[in-house]
Amino acid sequence: MTAQLIDGRAFAATLRARVRERVAALAPEAGRAPGLAVVLVGHDPASEVYVRSKGRQALEAGMKSFEHRLPETTGEDELLALIARLNADDQVHGILVQLPLPAHLDPRAVIHAIAPQKDVDGFHISNVGMVGTGQDAIVPCTPLGVMMMLRSLVDDFRGKTALVIGHSNVVGKPMARLLLNADCTVMVAHKSSTNIPELARMADILVVAAGVPGLVKADWIKPGAVVIDVGINRVDGNAPDGRARLVGDVDFDRARAVAGAITPVPGGVGPMTIACLLANTLRAYCLQLG
Ligand code: GUN
Repeated sequence: MTAQLIDGRAFAATLRARVRERVAALAPEAGRAPGLAVVLVGHDPASEVYVRSKGRQALEAGMKSFEHRLPETTGEDELLALIARLNADDQVHGILVQLPLPAHLDPRAVIHAIAPQKDVDGFHISNVGMVGTGQDAIVPCTPLGVMMMLRSLVDDFRGKTALVIGHSNVVGKPMARLLLNADCTVMVAHKSSTNIPELARMADILVVAAGVPGLVKADWIKPGAVVIDVGINRVDGNAPDGRARLVGDVDFDRARAVAGAITPVPGGVGPMTIACLLANTLRAYCLQLG
């Protein structure tokens, strides 16, 4: 068997087009368009790339983009004061503070200063708690994108078993909660779990967000399972031209002979994350319009 490839680029393009159309319909005059504020503290190279991409894609969706780049030495009071201004700004409907923050800043204090209705990352405890109790709320972008892809492949989650590998607040925990909300039977494994291959072999749906290149081997996968690889790992010098290449957390070449459907890296989950950020910004906008 060769697994169906799940084309994240195509999913993301469809979602971006839907958001763009909705923005054009809701806010025909640019002055009233949804506004996304992205805050970057310091110069983390990967964060710089993500922030540029978020701003560009917001503009392409017909939104307003506000980028706030602050020096590495920014104090917590200064960052909290900026967030307070963005909370009060009626041109700004979504606020995202790019993580990781420099070590002297407490990400919890910063995230919890964002007004929950503008928290387009879905990281505020109020949104986390709502999703955790099965209520409608702003959902973190990566798990939201994974659920959208899964829904196109899985008619009914009831009776299905899922394993999420990784228990971060950004991906693993919200992912497990969303699958549970869909009435899946959910297991969560992480770096202290000792029996991950056995758990994986029980899973109809396997979502891997461990950050370990090639962690999941083909013989961990239940034949026909849907495998979603959230990992984006830079591996140096393996490409024919000697440059770094991106690989996921799944041993893709072998796994695709066993899985029923699988996301590639790159081109799988990655493109959906920013598309979902745009969808969340549109949602926040609609919430604020009332
Ligand atoms: N850093 C890596 N992923 C994310 C994300 O989804 N949101 C924010 N704010 N920072 C990140």
